[in-house]
Amino acid sequence: MTDIVDDTITQPGGIRPTRTPTTRSVLMCSPEFFTVVYRINPWMDPALPTDTNLAVDQWSVLHQTYLDLGFDVHLIDPIPGLPDMVYAANGGMVIDGIAYGASFTHPERQPEGPAYMDWFRANGLDVRVPEQINEGEGDFLLVGDTILAGTGFRSDSLSHGELAAIYGREVLTLRLVNPSFYHLDTALAVLDSTPGQEHIAYLPSAFDARSLDLLEERYPDAVIVTETDAAVLGLNSFSDGYNVVIASRAADFGRQLREHGYNPIGVDLSELLLGGGGVKCCTLELRR
Ligand code: ARG
Repeated sequence: MTDIVDDTITQPGGIRPTRTPTTRSVLMCSPEFFTVVYRINPWMDPALPTDTNLAVDQWSVLHQTYLDLGFDVHLIDPIPGLPDMVYAANGGMVIDGIAYGASFTHPERQPEGPAYMDWFRANGLDVRVPEQINEGEGDFLLVGDTILAGTGFRSDSLSHGELAAIYGREVLTLRLVNPSFYHLDTALAVLDSTPGQEHIAYLPSAFDARSLDLLEERYPDAVIVTETDAAVLGLNSFSDGYNVVIASRAADFGRQLREHGYNPIGVDLSELLLGGGGVKCCTLELRR
Protein backbone atom coordinates (compact mmCIF):
# COMPACT_ATOMS: atom_id res chain seq x y z
CA MET A 1 0.00 0.00 0.00
CA THR A 2 1.16 3.52 -0.65
CA ASP A 3 0.91 6.36 1.84
CA ILE A 4 0.37 9.86 0.67
CA VAL A 5 2.56 12.33 2.54
CA ASP A 6 2.22 15.84 1.17
CA ASP A 7 3.27 15.64 -2.46
CA THR A 8 5.55 12.68 -2.00
CA ILE A 9 4.47 9.08 -2.20
CA THR A 10 6.51 6.41 -0.49
CA GLN A 11 6.76 3.47 -2.83
CA PRO A 12 8.41 0.06 -2.47
CA GLY A 13 11.25 1.37 -4.64
CA GLY A 14 11.78 4.53 -2.60
CA ILE A 15 10.56 8.12 -2.66
CA ARG A 16 9.50 9.56 -5.95
CA PRO A 17 10.30 13.14 -6.86
CA THR A 18 7.63 15.82 -7.00
CA ARG A 19 6.76 16.47 -10.64
CA THR A 20 7.13 20.03 -11.79
CA PRO A 21 5.60 21.40 -14.99
CA THR A 22 7.56 23.86 -17.12
CA THR A 23 5.87 25.94 -19.81
CA ARG A 24 6.61 24.68 -23.29
CA SER A 25 6.84 26.31 -26.66
CA VAL A 26 5.59 24.11 -29.48
CA LEU A 27 4.90 24.19 -33.21
CA MET A 28 1.77 22.57 -34.66
CA CYS A 29 0.14 22.25 -38.10
CA SER A 30 -3.60 21.96 -38.63
CA PRO A 31 -4.68 18.77 -40.48
CA GLU A 32 -6.73 20.78 -42.97
CA PHE A 33 -5.34 18.69 -45.82
CA PHE A 34 -5.02 15.44 -43.90
CA THR A 35 -6.04 12.24 -45.64
CA VAL A 36 -4.45 8.86 -46.38
CA VAL A 37 -3.58 8.50 -50.05
CA TYR A 38 -0.30 6.57 -49.81
CA ARG A 39 1.07 3.96 -47.45
CA ILE A 40 4.47 4.57 -45.84
CA ASN A 41 3.77 2.84 -42.52
CA PRO A 42 1.62 -0.17 -41.53
CA TRP A 43 -1.07 2.04 -39.97
CA MET A 44 -1.93 3.68 -43.29
CA ASP A 45 -4.47 2.12 -45.64
CA PRO A 46 -5.56 4.34 -48.54
CA ALA A 47 -8.62 2.09 -48.98
CA LEU A 48 -10.02 3.19 -45.61
CA PRO A 49 -12.02 6.43 -45.55
CA THR A 50 -10.71 9.41 -43.55
CA ASP A 51 -12.75 12.30 -42.22
CA THR A 52 -10.72 15.50 -42.52
CA ASN A 53 -13.25 17.60 -40.56
CA LEU A 54 -13.14 15.13 -37.69
CA ALA A 55 -9.33 15.19 -37.84
CA VAL A 56 -9.41 19.00 -37.55
CA ASP A 57 -11.89 18.84 -34.62
CA GLN A 58 -9.79 16.27 -32.74
CA TRP A 59 -6.57 18.17 -33.43
CA SER A 60 -8.26 21.39 -32.20
CA VAL A 61 -8.87 19.72 -28.85
CA LEU A 62 -5.14 18.95 -28.61
CA HIS A 63 -4.34 22.54 -29.60
CA GLN A 64 -6.71 23.89 -26.95
CA THR A 65 -5.29 21.50 -24.34
CA TYR A 66 -1.83 22.99 -24.90
CA LEU A 67 -3.22 26.54 -24.69
CA ASP A 68 -5.00 25.63 -21.43
CA LEU A 69 -1.69 24.31 -20.08
CA GLY A 70 -0.21 27.74 -20.77
CA PHE A 71 2.01 26.58 -23.63
CA ASP A 72 3.28 29.03 -26.19
CA VAL A 73 1.76 27.44 -29.31
CA HIS A 74 2.95 28.41 -32.79
CA LEU A 75 1.24 27.35 -36.01
CA ILE A 76 2.70 26.65 -39.43
CA ASP A 77 0.37 26.93 -42.44
CA PRO A 78 -0.61 23.54 -43.86
CA ILE A 79 0.16 23.04 -47.55
CA PRO A 80 -2.32 21.39 -49.95
CA GLY A 81 -0.99 18.08 -51.26
CA LEU A 82 1.06 17.38 -48.11
CA PRO A 83 -1.43 15.31 -46.09
CA ASP A 84 1.14 14.28 -43.44
CA MET A 85 2.27 17.82 -42.64
CA VAL A 86 0.07 17.70 -39.51
CA TYR A 87 2.78 15.49 -37.96
CA ALA A 88 4.91 18.49 -37.05
CA ALA A 89 7.34 16.49 -34.91
CA ASN A 90 8.91 15.28 -38.14
CA GLY A 91 9.60 18.83 -39.32
CA GLY A 92 12.95 19.11 -37.51
CA MET A 93 14.67 19.28 -34.13
CA VAL A 94 15.09 22.53 -32.22
CA ILE A 95 17.51 22.95 -29.31
CA ASP A 96 19.35 26.11 -28.18
CA GLY A 97 17.63 28.09 -30.94
CA ILE A 98 19.26 25.88 -33.55
CA ALA A 99 16.92 24.08 -35.94
CA TYR A 100 18.28 20.94 -37.56
CA GLY A 101 16.08 20.51 -40.63
CA ALA A 102 14.42 17.29 -41.69
CA SER A 103 15.19 15.30 -44.83
CA PHE A 104 12.41 12.79 -45.30
CA THR A 105 12.84 9.13 -46.23
CA HIS A 106 9.83 8.93 -48.55
CA PRO A 107 9.39 11.19 -51.59
CA GLU A 108 5.76 11.86 -50.59
CA ARG A 109 6.91 13.86 -47.56
CA GLN A 110 10.13 15.39 -48.88
CA PRO A 111 8.67 18.86 -49.62
CA GLU A 112 7.86 19.21 -45.92
CA GLY A 113 11.56 19.54 -45.06
CA PRO A 114 12.06 22.94 -46.80
CA ALA A 115 8.59 24.13 -45.69
CA TYR A 116 9.47 23.66 -42.04
CA MET A 117 12.96 25.15 -42.54
CA ASP A 118 11.33 28.26 -44.05
CA TRP A 119 9.18 28.60 -40.94
CA PHE A 120 12.20 28.17 -38.66
CA ARG A 121 14.11 30.87 -40.56
CA ALA A 122 11.15 33.26 -40.55
CA ASN A 123 10.90 32.77 -36.80
CA GLY A 124 14.47 33.62 -35.97
CA LEU A 125 15.95 30.17 -35.56
CA ASP A 126 19.43 29.28 -36.76
CA VAL A 127 18.67 26.68 -39.45
CA ARG A 128 21.07 23.86 -40.28
CA VAL A 129 20.23 22.21 -43.59
CA PRO A 130 20.58 18.45 -43.11
CA GLU A 131 22.96 16.33 -45.13
CA GLN A 132 21.55 13.06 -43.88
CA ILE A 133 18.09 11.51 -44.02
CA ASN A 134 16.26 12.29 -40.77
CA GLU A 135 12.70 12.84 -39.60
CA GLY A 136 13.30 15.29 -36.78
CA GLU A 137 11.71 14.83 -33.39
CA GLY A 138 9.93 11.76 -34.68
CA ASP A 139 13.25 10.00 -34.13
CA PHE A 140 15.14 12.40 -31.84
CA LEU A 141 14.20 12.99 -28.22
CA LEU A 142 16.08 15.15 -25.74
CA VAL A 143 16.33 13.59 -22.28
CA GLY A 144 18.45 15.60 -19.87
CA ASP A 145 21.56 16.46 -21.85
CA THR A 146 21.37 13.38 -24.04
CA ILE A 147 19.66 13.04 -27.39
CA LEU A 148 18.06 9.62 -27.85
CA ALA A 149 18.14 8.94 -31.57
CA GLY A 150 16.14 6.28 -33.37
CA THR A 151 17.04 4.48 -36.56
CA GLY A 152 15.96 1.36 -38.39
CA PHE A 153 13.01 2.60 -40.43
CA ARG A 154 13.33 6.32 -41.10
CA SER A 155 16.26 8.41 -39.84
CA ASP A 156 19.64 7.22 -41.11
CA SER A 157 22.11 6.55 -38.30
CA LEU A 158 24.48 8.94 -40.10
CA SER A 159 22.15 11.75 -39.03
CA HIS A 160 23.03 10.90 -35.42
CA GLY A 161 26.58 12.07 -36.09
CA GLU A 162 25.25 15.26 -37.63
CA LEU A 163 23.14 15.85 -34.51
CA ALA A 164 26.10 15.32 -32.18
CA ALA A 165 28.24 17.75 -34.20
CA ILE A 166 25.52 20.44 -34.28
CA TYR A 167 24.42 20.30 -30.66
CA GLY A 168 27.61 19.11 -28.94
CA ARG A 169 25.54 16.72 -26.86
CA GLU A 170 25.77 13.00 -26.34
CA VAL A 171 23.68 11.11 -28.90
CA LEU A 172 22.56 7.60 -28.02
CA THR A 173 21.57 5.47 -31.00
CA LEU A 174 18.54 3.22 -30.52
CA ARG A 175 17.53 0.69 -33.15
CA LEU A 176 13.83 0.12 -33.80
CA VAL A 177 12.74 -3.33 -34.98
CA ASN A 178 8.93 -3.31 -35.24
CA PRO A 179 7.53 -1.61 -38.38
CA SER A 180 4.43 -0.48 -36.43
CA PHE A 181 6.73 1.55 -34.18
CA TYR A 182 8.78 3.06 -36.98
CA HIS A 183 9.61 6.37 -35.29
CA LEU A 184 11.27 6.59 -31.87
CA ASP A 185 8.39 8.73 -30.57
CA THR A 186 5.97 5.84 -31.14
CA ALA A 187 8.03 3.55 -28.90
CA LEU A 188 9.42 5.87 -26.24
CA ALA A 189 8.09 8.89 -24.34
CA VAL A 190 10.09 11.46 -22.39
CA LEU A 191 8.23 12.15 -19.16
CA ASP A 192 10.83 14.28 -17.41
CA SER A 193 13.78 15.77 -19.27
CA THR A 194 15.22 17.68 -16.30
CA PRO A 195 18.93 16.85 -15.98
CA GLY A 196 19.37 14.68 -12.89
CA GLN A 197 15.80 13.41 -12.84
CA GLU A 198 15.41 12.02 -16.33
CA HIS A 199 12.38 9.77 -16.64
CA ILE A 200 11.07 7.93 -19.68
CA ALA A 201 8.48 5.33 -20.70
CA TYR A 202 8.94 2.78 -23.46
CA LEU A 203 7.86 -0.42 -25.17
CA PRO A 204 10.70 -2.95 -24.83
CA SER A 205 9.69 -5.12 -27.81
CA ALA A 206 10.14 -2.16 -30.20
CA PHE A 207 13.96 -2.19 -29.72
CA ASP A 208 16.80 -4.52 -30.61
CA ALA A 209 18.68 -6.29 -27.78
CA ARG A 210 21.58 -3.84 -27.64
CA SER A 211 19.32 -0.79 -27.45
CA LEU A 212 17.25 -2.48 -24.77
CA ASP A 213 20.38 -3.08 -22.68
CA LEU A 214 21.25 0.60 -23.02
CA LEU A 215 17.76 1.70 -21.99
CA GLU A 216 17.67 -0.63 -18.99
CA GLU A 217 21.08 0.51 -17.83
CA ARG A 218 20.41 4.23 -18.30
CA TYR A 219 16.81 4.39 -17.13
CA PRO A 220 16.27 1.63 -14.54
CA ASP A 221 13.13 3.36 -13.21
CA ALA A 222 11.46 3.75 -16.61
CA VAL A 223 7.74 3.11 -17.02
CA ILE A 224 7.22 -0.01 -19.13
CA VAL A 225 4.02 0.26 -21.13
CA THR A 226 1.80 -2.61 -22.28
CA GLU A 227 1.55 -3.76 -25.90
CA THR A 228 -2.14 -2.77 -25.72
CA ASP A 229 -1.35 0.84 -24.84
CA ALA A 230 1.45 1.01 -27.41
CA ALA A 231 -0.98 -0.29 -30.05
CA VAL A 232 -3.08 2.89 -29.73
CA LEU A 233 0.14 4.93 -29.89
CA GLY A 234 -0.15 5.61 -26.17
CA LEU A 235 3.58 6.32 -25.96
CA ASN A 236 3.20 9.05 -28.54
CA SER A 237 2.58 11.58 -25.78
CA PHE A 238 3.81 14.99 -24.71
CA SER A 239 4.88 15.83 -21.16
CA ASP A 240 5.66 19.21 -19.59
CA GLY A 241 7.21 17.44 -16.62
CA TYR A 242 3.90 17.05 -14.77
CA ASN A 243 1.02 17.12 -17.26
CA VAL A 244 1.28 14.33 -19.79
CA VAL A 245 -1.02 14.56 -22.80
CA ILE A 246 -1.71 11.02 -23.98
CA ALA A 247 -4.10 9.03 -26.18
CA SER A 248 -7.31 8.73 -24.16
CA ARG A 249 -7.48 5.04 -25.04
CA ALA A 250 -4.14 4.30 -23.32
CA ALA A 251 -5.86 3.53 -20.00
CA ASP A 252 -3.15 1.55 -18.27
CA PHE A 253 -0.48 4.07 -19.23
CA GLY A 254 -2.68 6.74 -17.63
CA ARG A 255 -2.87 4.70 -14.44
CA GLN A 256 0.92 4.20 -14.39
CA LEU A 257 1.51 7.90 -14.93
CA ARG A 258 -0.71 8.78 -11.97
CA GLU A 259 1.18 6.29 -9.83
CA HIS A 260 4.39 8.04 -10.77
CA GLY A 261 3.06 11.45 -9.79
CA TYR A 262 2.08 12.78 -13.21
CA ASN A 263 -1.22 14.23 -14.37
CA PRO A 264 -2.29 12.34 -17.52
CA ILE A 265 -4.64 14.22 -19.86
CA GLY A 266 -6.37 12.03 -22.46
CA VAL A 267 -7.04 13.29 -25.97
CA ASP A 268 -8.72 11.31 -28.75
CA LEU A 269 -6.86 11.55 -32.08
CA SER A 270 -8.41 8.42 -33.64
CA GLU A 271 -8.55 10.03 -37.08
CA LEU A 272 -4.84 10.89 -37.10
CA LEU A 273 -4.07 7.35 -35.95
CA LEU A 274 -5.15 6.31 -39.47
CA GLY A 275 -2.01 8.06 -40.67
CA GLY A 276 0.10 6.37 -38.01
CA GLY A 277 0.48 9.33 -35.66
CA GLY A 278 -0.71 10.62 -32.31
CA VAL A 279 -0.18 13.41 -29.78
CA LYS A 280 3.60 13.70 -30.00
CA CYS A 281 3.66 13.41 -33.78
CA CYS A 282 1.53 16.58 -33.88
CA THR A 283 3.94 18.45 -31.60
CA LEU A 284 7.38 19.91 -32.37
CA GLU A 285 9.03 21.38 -29.31
CA LEU A 286 10.81 24.70 -29.80
CA ARG A 287 13.70 25.04 -27.35
CA ARG A 288 15.23 28.49 -27.75
N1 ARG B 1 2.09 9.20 -41.91
C1 ARG B 1 3.23 9.73 -41.25
C2 ARG B 1 4.47 8.99 -41.69
O1 ARG B 1 4.42 7.80 -41.81
C3 ARG B 1 3.06 9.66 -39.76
C4 ARG B 1 4.17 10.32 -39.02
C5 ARG B 1 4.05 10.19 -37.54
N2 ARG B 1 4.95 11.05 -36.88
C6 ARG B 1 5.68 10.72 -35.81
N3 ARG B 1 6.40 11.65 -35.24
N4 ARG B 1 5.76 9.49 -35.38
O2 ARG B 1 5.51 9.57 -41.92
